[in-house]
Amino acid sequence: MAKAVQDKVSLQPKTAMILGSGLGILSEAVENATVIPYQDIPNWPVSTVEGHAGNLMIGTLEEKDILVMNGRLHYYEGYTMEQVTLPIRVLQRLGIENLIVTNAAGGVNQTFTPGNPMLITDHLNLLGMAGPNPLRGPNLETFGPRFPDMSRAYDRELGEIARQAAADLEITLYEGVYVCLAGPSFETPAELRFLSSIGVDAVGMSTVPEVIVANHGGQRVLGISGITNKSSLYGEKMTTHEEVIATGEILAPKMVKLLKSVVARL
Ligand code: HPA
Repeated sequence: MAKAVQDKVSLQPKTAMILGSGLGILSEAVENATVIPYQDIPNWPVSTVEGHAGNLMIGTLEEKDILVMNGRLHYYEGYTMEQVTLPIRVLQRLGIENLIVTNAAGGVNQTFTPGNPMLITDHLNLLGMAGPNPLRGPNLETFGPRFPDMSRAYDRELGEIARQAAADLEITLYEGVYVCLAGPSFETPAELRFLSSIGVDAVGMSTVPEVIVANHGGQRVLGISGITNKSSLYGEKMTTHEEVIATGEILAPKMVKLLKSVVARL
């Protein structure tokens, strides 16, 4: 799979970015891009979700070589954890050292206003903690150790760069813990109160499997959630995919500015 990508491009980016729901317009900021549809890469599982395009872009952003994954796979689509994280292994084979992951997330933290980004400082792998971890199965030592450390799953230096970029741009950047659930159903009020009580700030259905595999393979991770909706802990309001996409569109320009500035500082 990596060879199929390498055959199409000469750039060798060290940084990759995964675009989450509603954040696809970020891909328009990439210059001189070679676009490779996922279906042109042998064995690449193709995403089925509205709001997720399906292509790999290799080009430049702020004069830095970059690889952008425009569209990702989710466990709720029916893929195995191995399939969901297969692209990360391809990125590792391609020599990607820094992985910037973005997603749309619900703001469990009631002080969060939707339409603002959150720096992920840590995660709760509720989906995999007692179940399908993407590293389950035989370990390939060429990628990483059997029991990888997760005490710094989100790189502190990259987090600090994001903080400084946000401060310089006067963009509000919340910070907090992201939880990954299986989905695709949104949470019940009781589930949201449970998440709130165990220290969750943002809830979503992606990212964590990718981050685990990235860490296993020695990549540095920066995670940014776009807070697209406020979680209703008492069922005050319904959550819809349309709202997530619509707020994602408000968020996208802020995310573009922030991520461009981060990449410029790498
Ligand atoms: N819950 C789960 N995933 C999400 C949400 C949410 O409220 N918003 C965006 N992705």
